[in-house]
Amino acid sequence: MKAFVYERYGPPETLRMAEVDRPAPDVEAVLVKVLAASVNAADWHVVRGKPLFSRATLGLLRPKHKILGVDVAGRVEAVGSGVARFQPGDEVYANLLDHGYGGFAEYVSVPVDAVSPKPASLSFEEAAAVPMAAVTALQGLRRHGELRPAQTVLVNGASGGVGTFAVQIAKAYGAEVTGVTSTRNLDLVRSLGADHVVDYTTTEDVGDGRRYDLILDTVGNKSVPDLRGALAQGGKAAVTGFTSVARLLAVSLRGGKDIAQVQAHVTTKDLELLSELVEAGRVRPLIDRRYRFADIPAAIAYLEQGRARAKVVVAVP
Ligand SMILES: NC(=O)c1ccc[n+]([C@@H]2O[C@H](COP(=O)([O-])OP(=O)(O)OC[C@H]3O[C@@H](n4cnc5c(N)ncnc54)[C@H](OP(=O)(O)O)[C@@H]3O)[C@@H](O)[C@H]2O)c1
Repeated sequence: MKAFVYERYGPPETLRMAEVDRPAPDVEAVLVKVLAASVNAADWHVVRGKPLFSRATLGLLRPKHKILGVDVAGRVEAVGSGVARFQPGDEVYANLLDHGYGGFAEYVSVPVDAVSPKPASLSFEEAAAVPMAAVTALQGLRRHGELRPAQTVLVNGASGGVGTFAVQIAKAYGAEVTGVTSTRNLDLVRSLGADHVVDYTTTEDVGDGRRYDLILDTVGNKSVPDLRGALAQGGKAAVTGFTSVARLLAVSLRGGKDIAQVQAHVTTKDLELLSELVEAGRVRPLIDRRYRFADIPAAIAYLEQGRARAKVVVAVP
């Protein structure tokens, strides 16, 4: 099968298309014919092996995962002998971050516990856009932020992969949502249902000067005191991104109980909840760009520029 192999750290062009052996499903796994994948900000960090400390888990001298790619949607090709829940032909989606990566390939073997039925109303490309970004938004808002109806919620980076899901999820839970983005994306964020928008090019504030019950900071460019200063009494902030190692450490070390760095781990329970929100018409993945399989390095390079509007997806032949 065709796959993008990853042998050394470097820019996205370091990834090389190659013929590799098609995997066979383990006893408790499902072989998925990948029809679409999505690209995440983590991909360019991982390709470059940056920040450097991440190589402690990614591989000290060279990457230990040979094929990258975490978000996939496709059809079940074969099932392991211990799998009863799925059969060949089923349409599924999954996230492989905690399951050895491998999504930038024509086939991937996925542990059955990580596979969910694809929401029927989504195309494969739309479904592949969901897992990492939407679950990060969901876990940031609900697990760390304890999202409740009628709360005031601020989403920093509301036009990005995580932010576009976060605005819609917070609205679906009945929150009053403010989205922060730049001038060119204000209408996009309004169209997602945000009640208020803030143009970060015209203000240094965290939001619009009000205090929020919950802040989801997908950019990670705010200091801990600034985030805390924008929280209402008892409010919480969940930070998913970081713009420097110093910012990451500051949130981790000085965030306390109210400001947490989110490390999302996608579960099928989360994906099933998202499928329900999708099928109820409350959440819809937005696609910024579609790339061909051969252009995966270009898709990652585009995301690295930090200007993506919602999700970047790849059609797999
Ligand atoms: N911890 C985890 O488990 C986890 C999981 C997923 C993602 N993440 C991290 O979360 C972050 C966001 O991910 P993503 O997929 O949403 O990234 P993304 O799609 O690449 O984000 C791009 C968006 O960020 C906006 N943006 C850039 N600078 C901004 C600023 N100063 N203020 C407000 N918005 C700004 C851009 O809008 P403009 O073009 O208008 O500036 C663009 O729409 C990344 O750092 C990623 O690594 C973490």
